[in-house]
Amino acid sequence: MAITEDVLEFLENAEGPVSGEEMAEKLGITRNSVWKAVGKLKEAGYEIEAGTNRGYRLVSSSNVLCPQSVRRLLTGPARGCAIDVRESVSSTNTVLKSIAEQGGAEGMTLIAQQQTQGRGRLGRTFVSPKGTGIYISMLLRPKFSAEESLSVTTAAAVAVAEAVEAVTGRHAMIKWVNDVYLQGRKVCGILTEAAVDFENNGLHYAIVGIGVNIQDPPGGFPPEIRDVAGALYYEEVPAGVRTRLAAEIINRFFGFYEHLTQRPFMKSYQERSLLTGLEVTFTQGDRLQEGLVLGVDDQARLQVRLPDGEEKLFSAGEVDIKKDFLEQLRRGEE
Ligand code: BTN
Repeated sequence: MAITEDVLEFLENAEGPVSGEEMAEKLGITRNSVWKAVGKLKEAGYEIEAGTNRGYRLVSSSNVLCPQSVRRLLTGPARGCAIDVRESVSSTNTVLKSIAEQGGAEGMTLIAQQQTQGRGRLGRTFVSPKGTGIYISMLLRPKFSAEESLSVTTAAAVAVAEAVEAVTGRHAMIKWVNDVYLQGRKVCGILTEAAVDFENNGLHYAIVGIGVNIQDPPGGFPPEIRDVAGALYYEEVPAGVRTRLAAEIINRFFGFYEHLTQRPFMKSYQERSLLTGLEVTFTQGDRLQEGLVLGVDDQARLQVRLPDGEEKLFSAGEVDIKKDFLEQLRRGEE
């Protein structure tokens, strides 16, 4: 497999078509091995053009995700993670939960290219059609208290925002609590679910589920989310984006998770806070309030000044932003 992966990496990084001879020479393998590797990649679903006298070119829409490609890019603590990639599942969180119940190890990561019953926060559905996004769930067995473990979601939001930025080159922001925004649209949602160990004030396990919209679905997003939802790309998706994005997210997340109690991700979260400085409306249960967001504190609580001047900290809730502001971001006027 190593040769196939090397050839894939070479094609992904090539500026234009490359000849079999050039690849063989640079990779220190025979032309026949290059030819065989290209065959295997095509079998795996990669679209590779091979023109006479022009060499091989990985077609940029070729966006196959396979466990080997993701594993190849893992670094640091993420290298120990078992990666499983599936075409389609009901929900990566649901499937990983049952693996956790059967004793699955910390770090197990399930990635799917489609979810038929993707789940969002507050019992909502998370639209996850085939070929438009990636859906990742990671299994954790935290040794910290249940309270300290709450910051896994904050860590995940920063991991995604930084990964999106590394891959697309565009500035990603975080809308408290944990939605990642790109150019005024929500491109990622995170759902963390946990099984509490009451006796030890800890967790048996936690599942952090991340869904990123890479492309808008054919025909657009469903009407109920059309105003808010967005994607990383609206044109052709560059080759290797799915694999790179998955690896960048996993690497960053497990890097943060290793030092979770020190919250090494908070500064990045605070700097990316979409709500800071905005007049917002927020809902907690049935209660609707307005206020000015002053920032996010080191425990990821939203600092709000209410109309009567009182300052309050919120640990949970739903915030609505004025449409005008999002329109401004969409026009690039950050
Ligand atoms: C939200 O925005 O409400 C959270 C959405 C979380 C979606 C992800 S996709 C991977 C994982 N599996 C699920 O069913 N949900 C999460």
